Amino acid sequence: MPEPLHTRAGDDRRGFLRKFCATVIGAVLGLVPVGAGLTVFLDPLRRKSGTSGWVRVAAFEALPNDGIPRKFPVLADRVDAWNKFYRMPVGAVYLRRTPEGRLEALNVVCPHAGGFVDYLPGPNCFLCPLHNSKFALDGTIADPSSPAPRGMDALEVEVRSDKAIWVKFQNFQSATAAKIPAA
Ligand code: FES
Repeated sequence: MPEPLHTRAGDDRRGFLRKFCATVIGAVLGLVPVGAGLTVFLDPLRRKSGTSGWVRVAAFEALPNDGIPRKFPVLADRVDAWNKFYRMPVGAVYLRRTPEGRLEALNVVCPHAGGFVDYLPGPNCFLCPLHNSKFALDGTIADPSSPAPRGMDALEVEVRSDKAIWVKFQNFQSATAAKIPAA
């Protein structure tokens, strides 16, 4: 006796649903390891490359208390997409120690357009050779005709128990009167 049509149609539907569910579950289960792998693979791209923060710059004895600025490189660990580099140059600072015991730190980058500021021993001031911005020893603008929109960027500085000078290193946006941390 032939099977009723409605029974065969029901079997076909159940078979299709079973296959469909198996396919969907298989696809989801297959995506889990792919997603986990991608997370591990792309993770380094999300890491920050430390170019700001407290950095040990120099031994305290390396800086005479004669009020003359000295330039020191800033070395820090950097992380790019997949590698870590130890003690790479990330910038430079001028440190100055006065006979009265004041300690000052200035970022060497000119706030006009990112040139590197020189210290001139003769006139005892700073000069950016790119467009001749002139700064006093404390970083303030010394010549009103200077194109720099603000003085040199002062940084937090302290002497720690390891007898070293630590600077909170940070770059700032150029061409703006406000001191805005660079991204
Ligand atoms: S970049 Fe220093 S004066 Fe222009």
